[in-house]
Amino acid sequence: MYMTEKTKKLKNVVIIGASGGIGAALITQLLKDDEIEKIFAFSRCSVDKPQLSHEKVIHGFIDLTETASIECLGRSLEGVEFDLAIVCSGLLQNGDVKPEKSLRQINQDTLRQYFQVNSIAPMLVAQQLVPLMNRNNDSQLAFLSARVGSVSDNRLGGWYGYRASKSALNMLIKTLAIECQRTLPKLTIVGLHPGTVDTNLSKPFQNRVPADKLFTPIQSANYLLSVLATLDVSDSGKVFAWDKKEIMP
Ligand SMILES: NC(=O)c1ccc[n+]([C@@H]2O[C@H](COP(=O)([O-])OP(=O)(O)OC[C@H]3O[C@@H](n4cnc5c(N)ncnc54)[C@H](OP(=O)(O)O)[C@@H]3O)[C@@H](O)[C@H]2O)c1
Repeated sequence: MYMTEKTKKLKNVVIIGASGGIGAALITQLLKDDEIEKIFAFSRCSVDKPQLSHEKVIHGFIDLTETASIECLGRSLEGVEFDLAIVCSGLLQNGDVKPEKSLRQINQDTLRQYFQVNSIAPMLVAQQLVPLMNRNNDSQLAFLSARVGSVSDNRLGGWYGYRASKSALNMLIKTLAIECQRTLPKLTIVGLHPGTVDTNLSKPFQNRVPADKLFTPIQSANYLLSVLATLDVSDSGKVFAWDKKEIMP
């Protein structure tokens, strides 16, 4: 676990996408670290998940499709210094959006929604969070990406918008990491692939996933926290899978 392996203490953590399967599981596991003072948990819905009604968890609203909503993030967190921030939000399917199987299914609005939630919003969130990251000690800013965002690993095709939006996220992470190497030399910025995890996002696509390849959200959260515990600034800009193997662009 993050807390036992890591020498550095975590005091303040922020999770964006706290209502999601993986976001909520990360909060559950992080709450086991007694050193943590506050976890700021953001999502759209008024959350009924039990882990989010803990005394250390402060819930905030964010809609990643609304720039004004993202811009409120920094103001609502003003004065707090973060040791760890994880952006766990993401879109694969909703009422209007379905991953495309072929060129025929490409649709401007669908592509826009994928890029808005999976690439643009995480960077606008970063714009709000980077100034709040702990400058004096090691801190980490992680984004949940996906293996399918790897161009070199794309053998199956399909899922045009989701893939491309995660590839774009990976490039944005790399670019941000280069900038922050100069301005915040103790901040590590990475992308993480959580594995295939049993959440609402993956539910419609689980039928061909072997049981031992489908992680519970808690299992994935533990893997991700273990990976984060081993990373330092020399890893900044890279994308790692749940097993700490680097995912190539
Ligand atoms: N599950 C997997 O197998 C898998 C595999 C590879 C990568 N990932 C990545 O891991 C991340 C987490 O996935 P998950 O499985 O935990 O998905 P999930 O359970 O569907 O959670 C998605 C999260 O994204 C938030 N979100 C989506 N659209 C939003 C919007 N417009 N404004 C604010 N929040 C929004 C949701 O919050 P609301 O409550 O506000 O909707 C929710 O907290 C995603 O980036 C996903 O791409 C997952």
